Amino acid sequence: MAEKKIRTIGVLTSGGDAPGMNAAVRAVVRRGLGQGLKVKGILQGYDGLINDNIRDMKARDVSDIISRGGTVLYTARCPEMKTDEGIERAVETCRKHGIEGLVVIGGDGSYMGAAKLANHGINVIGLPGTIDLDIGCTEYTIGFDTAVNTAMQAIDKVRDTSASHERVSIVEVMGRNAGYIGLWCGIANGAEDILLPEKFNYDEQAVIDNIIENRRYGKRHHIIVNAEGIGHSASMARRIEAATGLETRATILGHMQRGGSPTARDRVYASTMGCMAVDLLLAGKTRRVVGYNNGQFRDYDISEALAMSKGISEYQYEVAVALSHNYMKPSENLYETQEATEGQAEA
Ligand code: ADP
Ligand code: F6P
Repeated sequence: MAEKKIRTIGVLTSGGDAPGMNAAVRAVVRRGLGQGLKVKGILQGYDGLINDNIRDMKARDVSDIISRGGTVLYTARCPEMKTDEGIERAVETCRKHGIEGLVVIGGDGSYMGAAKLANHGINVIGLPGTIDLDIGCTEYTIGFDTAVNTAMQAIDKVRDTSASHERVSIVEVMGRNAGYIGLWCGIANGAEDILLPEKFNYDEQAVIDNIIENRRYGKRHHIIVNAEGIGHSASMARRIEAATGLETRATILGHMQRGGSPTARDRVYASTMGCMAVDLLLAGKTRRVVGYNNGQFRDYDISEALAMSKGISEYQYEVAVALSHNYMKPSENLYETQEATEGQAEA
């Protein structure tokens, strides 16, 4: 717990950027200023803290950013922060600028750095910023909603052309260790197959069998949503084409999923969390992470938050699989029915 009221706070964004981070930065700056605090923007994540890349933030510095993707504070991956020397330099910079409270917007890695700063007396609050949704203590992370909508819209477009050419399409979405974007797109796009790091057992033959069966029963396209953690979409497409005889294309959506104007949900939740971070600091709290669960924003101890884990919802996975199934019997084979009708017409 902080002993005295803090006067100066800093804010930084760290790890992969996520749409909505700007809304959170804006909220921290304006809530802080509104409560009589000085607010410092730390550029390029922990790198800026270690190398003293800091600027004073005024209300106008965060004008016109709520609708913008990315982060105006820039972000970085900073290996030096994992060393004792890096931490010491970061603490020194905080002291130099009088930064007594720090809001860190990022994921689990960023919280580990924040926890080390807290051990040196800096009051830290973490906000969940990642498109991957893979933070154990919260069912919402800043950026996921925008990213999954971006991916969904892109897959809709791929589906149009895929269906026109009667092709198989593999669409690779982000998520190196977590399949949330893949799972959501699987349901939202009605994908025929979803390959997630948490679920896929690398049985490619099962995917091939599914494609062949769907074709037999009249499906003219086949969308496979493949998470980045499984990867290898291009070579998978070649193998599927060779095994099925069907034209197969791979599309890797990549970093487009990290950009773009944030959705209303990301703007509103990020703004709320940014305000909460300042309020927690003003209430003398430190080593906390803000999360959103069961309709409520709340804060968690940083070590407890880091120890929490969550998996993808088994039921939602079942939903994705259940709704992609064609539920047809061999007697309902559309191609055979069509051929029989044509044969009768000719006779
Ligand atoms: P995320 O915050 O999204 O999980 P990273 O894992 O890339 O992203 O972490 C972001 C940054 O947090 C790292 O570049 C590093 O500066 C810092 N960080 C990560 N792990 C640690 C650690 N164990 N100790 C101190 N700092 C860390
Ligand atoms: O932000 C999370 C994430 O998008 C992961 O899904 C992905 O594996 C990673 O970032 C890639 O980050 P970068 O290309 O910036 O190293």
